[in-house]
Amino acid sequence: MRLPIYLLIILNITGASLERFNVFDFWTNLFRPLPRVDKEGFVPDYTPKEGQEYDFIVIGAGSAGCVLANRLSEITQWKVLLLEAGGNENFFSDIPIFAPFLSITPMNWGYTSDVEAKACRDLRGKVCYMPRGKVLGGSSVLNFLIYQRGHPEDYNDWARMGNEGWSYKEILPYFKKSENIKINDLKNSIYHGIGGYLDIDYGSYSTPLNEAFKKAGEELGYEWNDPNGEKVIGFSKPQATIRNGRRCSTSKAFLEPVRFRRNLKVSKYSTVTKILIDSFTKVAKGVEFMKNGKRKRIFARREVILSAGTFGSAQLLMLSGLGPEQHLKQLGINTVVNLPVGYNLQDHVTFSGNAFIVNTTNLCVNDLIAASPTSAALYMIGQGPLTVPGGAAGLAFIQTKYGKDLAKGRPDIELVMGAGSLAGDLFGIIRSMLGVTDQWYKEVYGRLTLRDRQNSFALNPILIRPRSVGRLTLRSANFTDQPKINPNYFDHPNDLLALKEGVRFAQKIINTKAFQRYGTRLHDTPFPNCKDYRFDSEEYWECAIMQTSITLDHQVGTCKMGPPTDPTSVVSSRLLVHGIKGLRVVDASIIPRIPASHTHAPVVMIAEKASDLIKEDWNMPTESLR
Ligand SMILES: Cc1cc2nc3c(=O)[nH]c(=O)nc-3n(C[C@H](O)[C@H](O)[C@H](O)COP(=O)(O)OP(=O)(O)OC[C@H]3O[C@@H](n4cnc5c(N)ncnc54)[C@H](O)[C@@H]3O)c2cc1C
Ligand SMILES: *[C@@H]1O[C@H](CO)[C@@H](O)[C@H](O)[C@H]1NC(C)=O
Ligand SMILES: *[C@@H]1O[C@H](CO)[C@@H](O)[C@H](O)[C@H]1NC(C)=O
Repeated sequence: MRLPIYLLIILNITGASLERFNVFDFWTNLFRPLPRVDKEGFVPDYTPKEGQEYDFIVIGAGSAGCVLANRLSEITQWKVLLLEAGGNENFFSDIPIFAPFLSITPMNWGYTSDVEAKACRDLRGKVCYMPRGKVLGGSSVLNFLIYQRGHPEDYNDWARMGNEGWSYKEILPYFKKSENIKINDLKNSIYHGIGGYLDIDYGSYSTPLNEAFKKAGEELGYEWNDPNGEKVIGFSKPQATIRNGRRCSTSKAFLEPVRFRRNLKVSKYSTVTKILIDSFTKVAKGVEFMKNGKRKRIFARREVILSAGTFGSAQLLMLSGLGPEQHLKQLGINTVVNLPVGYNLQDHVTFSGNAFIVNTTNLCVNDLIAASPTSAALYMIGQGPLTVPGGAAGLAFIQTKYGKDLAKGRPDIELVMGAGSLAGDLFGIIRSMLGVTDQWYKEVYGRLTLRDRQNSFALNPILIRPRSVGRLTLRSANFTDQPKINPNYFDHPNDLLALKEGVRFAQKIINTKAFQRYGTRLHDTPFPNCKDYRFDSEEYWECAIMQTSITLDHQVGTCKMGPPTDPTSVVSSRLLVHGIKGLRVVDASIIPRIPASHTHAPVVMIAEKASDLIKEDWNMPTESLR
């Protein structure tokens, strides 16, 4: 019964410290790795020796890397090494509703964007906060657990861009392969799989708010559906990577069950600084990495596989001489192959500054409920408010007038109903994650009563078909300098207009009978820098969105997949880096066009498919799939 004690201590300390300390520093220091509940599951740490050889070296144990490590080591004669910069998951990272906590711990690489022209204008330092997991399981440990695949046409688009083998029909079996669907109603669905490593379930907790959301959808003419099934557009309860009420990261799902395989080694706290490439033969030979302050070189007999994520993979490729020649030259890096690495950065941006207040208690989940001993006790049996995946209680997918160029049935805006809201962020955790300043919070929500703040929820619109494209570049040739990230949100004018439609749709939802039953109202204190506009006018919302636009952390695309004839592509449809032998990229960075979806499930699918591509290329058997 450790959990309630921890929670009470935290509650007390934070409550007392709120006014006196910098909340951000406080939380960061508090979360030095704490033990996890099921300690016995830990993956043992192994340290490779200088000059050692493996068949495959996988860089990064994130959403993709853990899947690859598992699938490649199924071939018993292959020696597989997985290198990860971070360490173990812990007790807190298991708790679904505490997802926002993790971004303010050392489990986060802590990237921020450069100053944006039209976004994140009123956030700390005027930059966008971009958390990324630095832990076994990668961003699947920091994420909000939502399991969403996207629209079939998203993948057919990839195939139409010249990527053979990536049409929906061809990739659906890979979604199903990894899946262990626990939701009874979906067990017989042809879209879902049973018996895979990754548990997919609903959070078990609901309040009358969930029911209101469903009814609101019906009032507005939307079906209550499985958005991973036949139709994406509709309202639903989020499907999540959750097992018995706890987070089911890729580390837990794919790595822990096979941690004693003799041909699989995992080296934690190992940061790769360079891929070793023979500039004459253009073969990737191995990697250079740092562990315990020592630099080592190790070698790959067959392949080096880069799964360091959208930022990490692009950065490592460029540091290793694979990137845009001009840019590398400026930093004094010798170009081995001139490739458009870092371009094509795409992301989903959301507006989460609004709070909707209800007149009834016990509909919303707030900090105090989350930290209560009852919640902690319920969590021990996999129940209660702590199991709400990242605090998300409902999803809606819609097509606005700005998505009319898309086929019917393809959404361009998603709304996530949060069981609580930014207004209820009494302890500053969500603020720290999003980069919202305490000053902003005080001005916008300070005058609300405590009761209202606690009985508020969110309906955050997400731009899931962005037209704007950004870019990632190196800041220097030194690995420790984080790359420059320019997401370019709202560069295309339609993006802002579409997201504003999302704000309007949220208002439609709260105006339904289902929500008016609880006297639901939008909190209407204007944002500090938008006071010149009439509250609720079109201009007001455009201003508001640009002030507190926040990323959903779905960055993709910096190592774009495409045929060799596509000058904007970095890897082939077999995920091999163009112009180099023995080097693949397998993670979110290869995505050519961001799907209208959260990105974790697509990345797991990519890694499943990549594992089969690799086996095929080395003449090894692959399982037959349904
Ligand atoms: C806060 C947050 C919330 C999110 N919410 C959701 C959600 O609810 N649903 C959803 O579907 N998606 C969500 N996402 C996005 C999703 O989690 C990511 O798209 C996905 O995890 C990316 O997988 P990846 O394998 O590309 O990279 P990652 O999972 O980030 O893995 C990269 C790994 O490589 C390691 N690494 C990087 N560089 C090096 C190096 N040089 N040496 C050694 N190791 C290195 C990293 O430490 C990390 O473990 C969220 C992401 C975040 C951060
Ligand atoms: C890279 O930067 C780090 C931190 O600033 C510094 O300690 C290190 O010496 C630098 N490395 C090189 C090769 O310049
Ligand atoms: C909440 O508001 C609704 C609609 O105005 C009203 O019917 C209901 O009685 C209110 N409930 C409470 C607890 O005040």
